[in-house]
Amino acid sequence: MAIERTFSIIKPDATRRNLTGKVNAMLEDAGLRIVAQKRIRMTRENAETFYAVHKERPFFGELVEFMTSGPVVVQVLEGENAIAKNREVMGATNPEEAAEGTIRKTFAENIEANSVHGSDSAENAAIEIAYFFAGSELVG
Ligand code: PPS
Repeated sequence: MAIERTFSIIKPDATRRNLTGKVNAMLEDAGLRIVAQKRIRMTRENAETFYAVHKERPFFGELVEFMTSGPVVVQVLEGENAIAKNREVMGATNPEEAAEGTIRKTFAENIEANSVHGSDSAENAAIEIAYFFAGSELVG
């Protein structure tokens, strides 16, 4: 199986509740290695650019407000099948639909404040990693 990298965000609802370590433990327990990580405050421009694919969706404005409402932790995760593995440990977008033991089932407050983001494809992972990290910041 291929070693992949994926992009992850610990969202403002989780940093506000001081859950960074608990989320990281779940990622690591799932076999993912955190090869880059930084705590930042997204600007409006960051959030609008990052979520541009969703700009026609009714929740776009609220999503941008939420993602800029507090610090986030942006991360690069590495491991076998990392993109799918991270999506699995995150759980469904809506925590009410997320499986037991997933990050969103355990911590998410609702479909907006759902604690984590993870890339949904190899193509998007590469774009998202490059948006937030320089190559020199990734230490495998
Ligand atoms: S969905 O539910 O199928 O539309 O999920 P998805 O396409 O993955 O959602 C894309 C991102 O939008 C967020 N989202 C929302 N934010 C606020 N309000 C509502 N109703 C809402 N629905 C979805 C969702 O958390 C996804 O964020 P990321 O950061 O990509 O996980």
